[in-house]
Amino acid sequence: MTTTLLNNGLRIPSVGLGVYKASPEDTYKTVLAALKAGYRHIDTAAFYQNEPDVGRAIKESGIPRSEIWVTTKLHIGEMRNPTEAFNKSLERLGTGYIDLYLIHAPIQGRRLQAWKEMEVIYQEGKAKSIGVSNFNIAHLEELINSSTVVPAVNQIELNPFLQHVDITEFCKSKGIVVQAYSPLTKARKLDDPTLVEVSTGLGKTPAQVLIKWGLQKGYVTLPKTVNPTRLVENISVFDWTISAEDMKKLDALECNFVTEWDPTQWGTKNETWGQWAIEKVIHNFVA
Ligand SMILES: NC(=O)c1ccc[n+]([C@@H]2O[C@H](COP(=O)([O-])OP(=O)(O)OC[C@H]3O[C@@H](n4cnc5c(N)ncnc54)[C@H](OP(=O)(O)O)[C@@H]3O)[C@@H](O)[C@H]2O)c1
Repeated sequence: MTTTLLNNGLRIPSVGLGVYKASPEDTYKTVLAALKAGYRHIDTAAFYQNEPDVGRAIKESGIPRSEIWVTTKLHIGEMRNPTEAFNKSLERLGTGYIDLYLIHAPIQGRRLQAWKEMEVIYQEGKAKSIGVSNFNIAHLEELINSSTVVPAVNQIELNPFLQHVDITEFCKSKGIVVQAYSPLTKARKLDDPTLVEVSTGLGKTPAQVLIKWGLQKGYVTLPKTVNPTRLVENISVFDWTISAEDMKKLDALECNFVTEWDPTQWGTKNETWGQWAIEKVIHNFVA
């Protein structure tokens, strides 16, 4: 497993197991199997309702806590009480500390105050790193200009079909590591002809090529699976490379393919009616 250097000097394993929409039982079994298979990084969230199962698997794996990276996220419904939300996540995980704590989405009117409290959690050492998710350039600039800690990461939806080049370039310029979520397009584009052609040429699967594409871009990538065979497939990506020519073919697949939600558009001119409605419902819920 390769690692990526963060702006606070820590190294994060470059591939993490995502557990969004994994049931508690599947989460427990899969995290245990993943740790046996060589994963050392798990990406969960309060919203996923499987933190206790991640924690139980880590404990039972017998692997020292210090060798495993655990990320969890501040629930959008708990933006008013980040410290309390953090403590509840930590208790559910039972991991003693959290390696990376993220603001799950850039809720207007709440995100700056939440970040201030997260800076305290970071300074107290309860979270070894803090970061954000689904932030666009304006969200990031506002945060950086009004705080002391620059986010260690920005976790956004990223794959060849949705590349967010503007955000990734900005993050790079500020020393913020980009994490790619839904790197497999939730399995919706695995039969894309160009992707299949590149994969066949390499003798790899489309899922492996999507993961490797993210790694070669310098992203930390977070594929999710609860299938034991695919678990191994998804980390068998370190002893081969995609050529510059094939990377170009993959780069040309950009088509703004959003699988579920896109909070990076919140508060921008590009926000669609659907996104605007989701944002308003969430804001009313959070307010
Ligand atoms: N911050 C955020 O707002 C946010 C949003 C979404 C996701 N995330 C994080 O990113 C992680 C990954 O994203 P995601 O769960 O949306 O989707 P994803 O990783 O892009 O895709 C997961 C889907 O691909 C399938 N799959 C996995 N490996 C495969 C393989 N080798 N071949 C074929 N199919 C395969 C999985 O099915 P099986 O499980 O049956 O294998 C599942 O249906 C999440 O779990 C979560 O940790 C964060």
